[in-house]
Amino acid sequence: MSIGTPMLTRRDLLKLALTTAGAPAYVQGLVQRGVGQTADAFSSLGSLQQIAASRGIRFGSMVRKKTLIADPKYAGLVTQHCRVLVPGNELKWDALRPTPDQFDFSGSDWIQQFAKSHGMQFRGHTLVWEQALPKWFVPTINLDNAKQVLLSHISTVVGHYAGQMHSWDVVNEGIEIEDGRADGLKVTPWLIYLGPEYMDLAFHAAHQADPKAMLVYNENRLEPEGAAAERQRQAVLALLTRLVKRGVPIHGLGIQSHFVAETDAANSGLKRFLHAVEDLGLFILITELDVRDYRLPGDIAVRDGMVSKQYYNYLSFILKFKSVKTLMTWGLSDRYTWQPKDNPRNDGLTGRPLLFDANLRPKPAFEAVMRAFDEAPRR
Ligand code: G3I
Repeated sequence: MSIGTPMLTRRDLLKLALTTAGAPAYVQGLVQRGVGQTADAFSSLGSLQQIAASRGIRFGSMVRKKTLIADPKYAGLVTQHCRVLVPGNELKWDALRPTPDQFDFSGSDWIQQFAKSHGMQFRGHTLVWEQALPKWFVPTINLDNAKQVLLSHISTVVGHYAGQMHSWDVVNEGIEIEDGRADGLKVTPWLIYLGPEYMDLAFHAAHQADPKAMLVYNENRLEPEGAAAERQRQAVLALLTRLVKRGVPIHGLGIQSHFVAETDAANSGLKRFLHAVEDLGLFILITELDVRDYRLPGDIAVRDGMVSKQYYNYLSFILKFKSVKTLMTWGLSDRYTWQPKDNPRNDGLTGRPLLFDANLRPKPAFEAVMRAFDEAPRR
């Protein structure tokens, strides 16, 4: 589909979003009662985490401490629909490490307690990433101290939550084809100071600090069709194969799934890749799902229809893989999403990438996800 030229007519899309003929009775009820209502009115309509759990899938979302405190209605939506939470930024180095010698767990501890008090699990993002580093990092880290700084960070942070984590993103976004290396590894301070073995070191240190935690390699740009994504998939697969062969304690691949609505979400390249990852004995986690609408026409019904279609197509495809047992979105409501900031629309309209609108009302995307969970095979 060419950008900005939807193949479906507006009428098709409205039908897609609102017609529930043939859908299970609860879905018909959802759409009749839910779309256009407030979050309060919607609270009786069931929950994403419940329907996901009935299929053996754990559903959750990225959250931020500031938002949960400032917006109780949003916090209510989170507790209703999520079974696992991941902090958006509170576990990154720039939040945790005010100085080279200090750790500040106030943000992440708050979210962990919030999750615990509502019977939800907590996952960690992320231990090793070349972004979101504190200002002191570059002037302080060098060839002599890099290994010790990395290992002490991981043992302290993972140790702080030992025995309590659903999973950890140990390494985030370690591949960058454009950096030109044969192995596709991104050229970061960790690679420069420690070589490719920085990943082995990180996974071993995390495993030592919390032998029970599921340890994940988390990556972006794996999903689309086309040559660039295929190169990304090949490099990640080769990396995972090397790690597994060397006996590195890695248990899962996190597929971020920041989609654009126009991509073929169920393409054959992705399918081959997912089978190969499963053959390595790894779990597949969907870690940061959202659907960008910034290149779609402005009409809200059209946009919501295309976004919901993408959610449905992707989930129907991905949930056929039984190693997918965790599915997280990068936020629940368009009231709080990184997308409009990072990918602004040319027409100035606000983006609508998530399941609830900025008034916390369920969108067609919500119904699409509920329906995909309902149709998912049990695991
Ligand atoms: O905390 C400061 C705040 O004090 C200040 O007032 C404000 C001014 O802009 O900036 C705040 O920090 C920002 C932070 O988000 C909280 O809003 C940082 O500048 C900004 O860089 C940071 O962006 C985050 C980004 O990762 C980098 O850490 C986004 O919120 C977050 O959604 C994004 O998440 C990433 C995942 O970690 C990895 N995958 C892609 C995903 C989206 O880019």
